[in-house]
Amino acid sequence: MNAPFAFKKVDAAPVIRVPYVDFAAQYAEERADIHACVDRVFAKGDFVAGAAVAELEAALATKCGVKHAVALASGTDALILALKVLGIGSGDEVITAPNSFVASASCIALVGATPVFVDVAADQNIDPAKIEAAITARTKAILPVHLTGRIAEMDAINAIAAKHGLAVVEDSAQAIGSTYRGKASGALGTVGCFSTHPLKNLGGAGDGGFLTTNDGALAERIKRLRTHGMIDRNTVAEWGVVSRMDTLQAAILNMRLAKLDMLTARRRANAAQYRALLDARHVFVPPERTYATDTYHTFVVQVDRRDELRAYLLERGIETFIHYPIPIHLQPAAKGLGYGLGSFPVAEQQSARILTLPVNQYLSSEQIELVATTVNQFFRA
Ligand SMILES: Cc1ncc(COP(=O)(O)O)c(C=O)c1O
Repeated sequence: MNAPFAFKKVDAAPVIRVPYVDFAAQYAEERADIHACVDRVFAKGDFVAGAAVAELEAALATKCGVKHAVALASGTDALILALKVLGIGSGDEVITAPNSFVASASCIALVGATPVFVDVAADQNIDPAKIEAAITARTKAILPVHLTGRIAEMDAINAIAAKHGLAVVEDSAQAIGSTYRGKASGALGTVGCFSTHPLKNLGGAGDGGFLTTNDGALAERIKRLRTHGMIDRNTVAEWGVVSRMDTLQAAILNMRLAKLDMLTARRRANAAQYRALLDARHVFVPPERTYATDTYHTFVVQVDRRDELRAYLLERGIETFIHYPIPIHLQPAAKGLGYGLGSFPVAEQQSARILTLPVNQYLSSEQIELVATTVNQFFRA
């Protein structure tokens, strides 16, 4: 006999009233411009190393206030190639933060070196006061991450690097256009590494990235390495990879770079509205600094009862994320590094308290107000 037919209860998904990202709105706004980019590249057929790539590199160098920008296939490749040209490899150590996207540490391991983590401060960026204790005879570089679009304390980091003869590789993946004491992200260390993943403030229609530097020889070597180590069509100077940015991506990024300041202003306005409305007794947001401009790739708050709040917001149609719920030193891939629970108490505590609220440029002030009042309501209830 057949089992009786049972209806399964399916909970209706909440209607999203405040989306975390809005690619549909972006496409509606840019449709004609995107089609023009596709048209230009296809008509010319310069899909690889086309004119738009060189144009983008010049514009990015100007934007970041450096002599050279080199377009690549991803931010991950920018980090790997930066470490490689700095001569970092087997037996070397590179100091970084444990609370970043995994690429900040995996790239160090992928060139054969060892990631050495240093705990973060209240603002989620590497704590300069804890860096010197982690320096050994094997340390070759410091790789600060400008998490959320907030530049790490570069004066202190550069002073430590200079004292110990270390390179500084900025992980600027989340920080295009951010500034610190009058300088842009990517111009504050030896090399800056950026991502143009679609979710980034300057994002393409697929993976992409670039690297910035004032060192001409370093830039030339990266250009060589991104095309099989070739110096011309028939001469391979050293073993390289294929890590070129597609011309189509470059064309789209050129179009979007021209609008980046406006987009950043919208995100900053959203962040300012959150700061004004969120109840500081329950919600910690790292205060802005007079000498820096944050670009809010993400707007991360620190709260108690984070998971409960996240569910409460979703029930009311507000999408949030957690960047990142598991610190890198506690990932299975990091097992061999010898860290464990308790190794980095600040990063670990934050990982249970951080919540990323929507801050994208398409949100109205009514939507931001709805998010802030719903958060406040949760803590009042
Ligand atoms: C801090 C950080 N570093 C590195 C990367 C790697 O960039 P990509 O995804 O372009 O390889 C990302 C991108 O998500 C990032 O957020």
